[in-house]
Amino acid sequence: MGYTLGIWDGHDAGAALLQDGKILYAANEERFTKRKLEINFPNHAISAAISYAKIKHSDVDNIAYSTTEFTKTLERIFPSMKENYYKFRRRKILKPMFENARHKIKYTLTGIGPLPLCEAASSHIINRKLKRMGFRGYRLYAIDHHLSHAACAAFTSGQGRKLVITLDGLGDGLSGSVSILDNGKLERVMRIGAQDSLGIFYEQITNIVGMRELEDEGKVMAMADYSYPFSSEENRFSDLFSLSGTRLRARHSAARQYDILSAIGWQMPREQFAYMAQQLVEMLVEKLISNLIDRYNIQDIAVSGGLFSNIKANMKVRSLGNVKSMYVFPHMGDGGIALGAALYCHYLTDKISVQKFSAYLGDEYSEEDTVDYIKKHKEFSYNIEGKTESARHASELISKENYILWFNGRMEYGPRALGNRSIVGSSSSEQVKELLNMKVKRREWFQPFAPSVLESEVERLFEYDNKGYDKFMTSAYAMKKEHLMRERSVVHVDGTARPQMVGDENLEYKELLAGVKKQTGFGIVLNTSFNIHGSPIVMSPSDALLMMKQSGTKHMFINGVFVTNRKIR
Ligand SMILES: [Fe+2]
Repeated sequence: MGYTLGIWDGHDAGAALLQDGKILYAANEERFTKRKLEINFPNHAISAAISYAKIKHSDVDNIAYSTTEFTKTLERIFPSMKENYYKFRRRKILKPMFENARHKIKYTLTGIGPLPLCEAASSHIINRKLKRMGFRGYRLYAIDHHLSHAACAAFTSGQGRKLVITLDGLGDGLSGSVSILDNGKLERVMRIGAQDSLGIFYEQITNIVGMRELEDEGKVMAMADYSYPFSSEENRFSDLFSLSGTRLRARHSAARQYDILSAIGWQMPREQFAYMAQQLVEMLVEKLISNLIDRYNIQDIAVSGGLFSNIKANMKVRSLGNVKSMYVFPHMGDGGIALGAALYCHYLTDKISVQKFSAYLGDEYSEEDTVDYIKKHKEFSYNIEGKTESARHASELISKENYILWFNGRMEYGPRALGNRSIVGSSSSEQVKELLNMKVKRREWFQPFAPSVLESEVERLFEYDNKGYDKFMTSAYAMKKEHLMRERSVVHVDGTARPQMVGDENLEYKELLAGVKKQTGFGIVLNTSFNIHGSPIVMSPSDALLMMKQSGTKHMFINGVFVTNRKIR
């Protein structure tokens, strides 16, 4: 019992704090340092967790970190390696010589799993950093990478027996795992080796089409729908993997696979290349999970790991006849590892603590704090409206084909803005979509925006499967044909959308949606994350005001305070 801290010091670093197994706080380091998908030790997120809980560092009983594989340990010993890769991956440096060779070295080295010495060295370095921050008298736990992913999915999925599946690039020598959550026990029953990684395959595709690996995979998925369709027999990637029952195998090493993909990529348009990759991944994931369900005879599944950020593959899995319910942990990538490590650690030290996940786990700010920030900027005027009036007022502006900035309560944990740090606009306005794409967010034109929709409107607007409302935008759903034209700013070219289905978990946001329904007849809005291109989602009122200024936005609602930028007409 007591406090358990989870930390993750890799791609999208972060921290999470549990009190007696209950999630108290979780945030990623990028929100503090303003470097997207930050890789450095999460000093800020840890400090924020401690101060949110109003405890001393010495009050923390157990601390869990994750991943002790060879390369991760090497990066802990030589942090400059990590920084170099970060800049290389994000294309913040000129194209280096031997780029191809660098990729291949990475694929070879990262395949090496955890070694006994690595855990000792990693723990030594982590302990040193923790002690420097003031932690004393705690026990340190190193939690396996895929157990951390599995713990996220299992322990936040709600009650019941579950088949827990993880799929990602790789971590601690694996690219996937299967566990069973039953009666207080999480037991791993299957492993998928790092050499058979669908995540690495997709990462390589992303890189070859000229995008940033570990960041732009969603763009590749969106681009795939702009290809003309072709059959799986014509798919030139189809022999790169084999699936026999529940046995997934890659035909080649990751380095060899990269060469093969590069050669094919050279010969064809990007959208067709992306289409083939997406088709293969959907087919394999769908079949693999279907076979796993039949093998273990459990029809309720909980999933995590970066591959499950692929909402089109998730849609296929959700639609399987033998899936009764599907829970996708919303922070499925490595950004969620801090929470997973903490949850698994608590499972080891005390007992299982299954809870329903709320994404609102970050920092919050009082109305007084908010007003203090606003007063510092002369170009802003403000009016304290209160949260109910703000929701009504915002819905009125949105219904008149505007967009607004909506900042309320605790920051979301995970990649999606879910109505607490969101840009909200009309779902039926081409003009708002264009404005957001070109001026505010500066996104690629082919990336669709996603909607937030009232739970009570889901069946009216979408082909809904009755397998549980999707609170966290983790799957695509087909929109009903009769609404496609009207909802054109939130529907992808294939007629699907990635909705957040809003109920009582966010009352203010629900009220805003109800206001929009009152005025337009439809309880649906466009919801995109509150940030500008290339920056993380805003955290504090001062971040929000800066973004408002930089994007030339006129209206913002922030914790019940209505803010207007006087310089914008
Ligand atoms: Fe991972």
